[in-house]
Amino acid sequence: MTIIIAIDGPAAAGKGTLARRLAARLGFDYLDTGLIYRAVGMKLARAGLDPADVALAERAARDLSPADLAAPDLRMDEAAQAASKVASIPGVRAALLEFQRKFAAQPPGGKGAVLDGRDIGTVVCPEAGVKLFVTASVEKRAERRLKELQEKGLGAIYGTVLADMRERDERDTNRAVAPLVPAQDAAVLDTSDLDADQAFAAALEIIGSKR
Ligand code: DC
Repeated sequence: MTIIIAIDGPAAAGKGTLARRLAARLGFDYLDTGLIYRAVGMKLARAGLDPADVALAERAARDLSPADLAAPDLRMDEAAQAASKVASIPGVRAALLEFQRKFAAQPPGGKGAVLDGRDIGTVVCPEAGVKLFVTASVEKRAERRLKELQEKGLGAIYGTVLADMRERDERDTNRAVAPLVPAQDAAVLDTSDLDADQAFAAALEIIGSKR
C-alpha cells in the first residue's frame, strides 16, 4: 500500500508550495489537482466558450489528456476563475475523479502520493493516511497573491485581488458537490502568521505524529 497525503484548503493558502516540498522531502509523487480543473476551464475559455456551460465542460473533462496540463496559460487568473466554474459541475468532477484516484493509488514512483486540492480528504481519497487542511485569512491570501502577481511583473490592485479571492471562496465553499470543507479527520494548519518554512515544519510535525 502506498501512502497518501491529502492537502486541501482555499486558494493561495500555501498548499501548492507545501505539497511540493513535502513530496520532495518524502520522495513521493505530487499531483496539483487544481491544474486539472484549470485545464478543463481553459479549453473552453480559450475557444471563447462559457466555462459554466454544462455539456461543453463535461465533454472537455472527458477528453482531457495529460498534455493539456502543460499549457502555459494555466497559472493565469483567468484560468483560476474558469476552473472554479467548471469545478461546480457534477459531471466534470465525476469525469476527473478516476484520474486522481489512479494517481493516488499507483503513483509513478511507487512510494507515496501528495495530492492538493479542495476535496482530496473528503471525496477523492477519504482513506488517505494523512489529511491537512491548509488555510489562512482571506486578506493574507490576497496579499500573497498580489505579491506573486507583482513579482511576475503583472500589474494588480489589492482590492481587485481580494474581491476575486472572495468570489472564488464563495463558489468553492457553497457549491452542491464536493464543497471546500475540512475532512472530519483533517489537521487544520492556519498559515496566516507562518512563512513557508514554518508551515513546512508544522506540516512535518503533523505527518510525523500520524505515521
Ligand atoms: O488550487 P487552484 O487555485 O489551482 O484551483 C482552481 C480551482 O479549481 C478552484 O477554484 C476550485 C477548483 N478545484 C476543485 O474544485 N477541486 C480540486 N480538487 C482542485 C481545484
